Amino acid sequence: MKGSATNTFGILTSGGDCPGLNAAIRGVAKAAYGLYGMKIIGINNGFKGLIEDDTGILKPEDFSGILTRGGTILGTSREKPFGKVKDNDFSVDMKLDAIKENYKKNNLDCVVMLGGNGSHKTAALLKEQGLNIIGLPKTIDNDIYGTDITFGFHTAVDIATEAIDRLHSTAHSHNRVMIIEVMGHNAGWLALYSGLAGGGDVILIPEIPYHMDSIKDHLKNRAKSGKQFSIVVVAEGALSYEEYKMDKKQLKQKRKDPGYQSKAYELAKDIEDKTGMDVRISVLGYLQRGGTPSPYDRVLATQFGTVAAELLYKGEYGNMVAREKDDIIAKPLEEIAGKLKPVPQDHILLKNARMVGTCFGD
Ligand code: F6P
Repeated sequence: MKGSATNTFGILTSGGDCPGLNAAIRGVAKAAYGLYGMKIIGINNGFKGLIEDDTGILKPEDFSGILTRGGTILGTSREKPFGKVKDNDFSVDMKLDAIKENYKKNNLDCVVMLGGNGSHKTAALLKEQGLNIIGLPKTIDNDIYGTDITFGFHTAVDIATEAIDRLHSTAHSHNRVMIIEVMGHNAGWLALYSGLAGGGDVILIPEIPYHMDSIKDHLKNRAKSGKQFSIVVVAEGALSYEEYKMDKKQLKQKRKDPGYQSKAYELAKDIEDKTGMDVRISVLGYLQRGGTPSPYDRVLATQFGTVAAELLYKGEYGNMVAREKDDIIAKPLEEIAGKLKPVPQDHILLKNARMVGTCFGD
């Protein structure tokens, strides 16, 4: 379209998938194609597709009817072009040369990248190399610095909360402690929100190292007050105080031990040993990343997508689209790159949860 800084752009999805990716792709594509007449090159399987020129023109029929679809029509990968080279891998320079060559070969004016923390780090590095990139923040973890929320998070909270609701009845019927492990390696947003929404009695997040004695006392006091069952919501990245004191290498070693399955299993054994209570486990895993996005995420993803199309039109490259209070704005990639957004120790939700008697293990 006359006046558009962008005639042709590539679009890719990188990192873990999440509900809302296709809604965001649709938002960018419908606006860019329908409003501004841009040509859209779909790049398959994340940055891997850019390295291998695994691309194809996206036509209206490709991005129509995908608003409610889970996953990503483009496929994704965790390819990190600047990451440490594995033995049978191309060197970083070779990958970078291939990216620049394919960027030019497809006559791209920009690449729109839907990704999480690691992918935005890659986007910032590619910006330094002179490529035009626009990032859209996606992840069920909601741990991307610089945006109040990422699409995928709200749907995952819905899924986890529904699971917690279901666990209450079986825990109550059997007088058991039910542990539900949710995703969130580095940040506990998903455990915090779903734990509060689902009435979790204990919520364990990576940001608050837990003491087994504190959990034991809480569960015992509940039993004394007549509540013979409890719900424990634990983020997969939650740390005991002992783990918190370990250095990265020691912690990695511990998690690699063949006997270690996941945090929920370790916690179940510790609770049984400390309390003698009957404990069961549910690891929610990839259910939190699957299926159709919630209406909230469909709206948010569409907002992010259409704002990205405006940035393409104006030629405002090198930014990540972000939600700040009620506004959708653009933030320079270098301000975001590689920064995490953990749950702050003074976050209001922690206070709200403690006020209704939730134990965080501290
Ligand atoms: O980053 C989102 C996430 O779902 C994390 O919560 C989870 O730990 C990780 O991805 C799983 O990664 P993968 O899909 O590579 O197994």
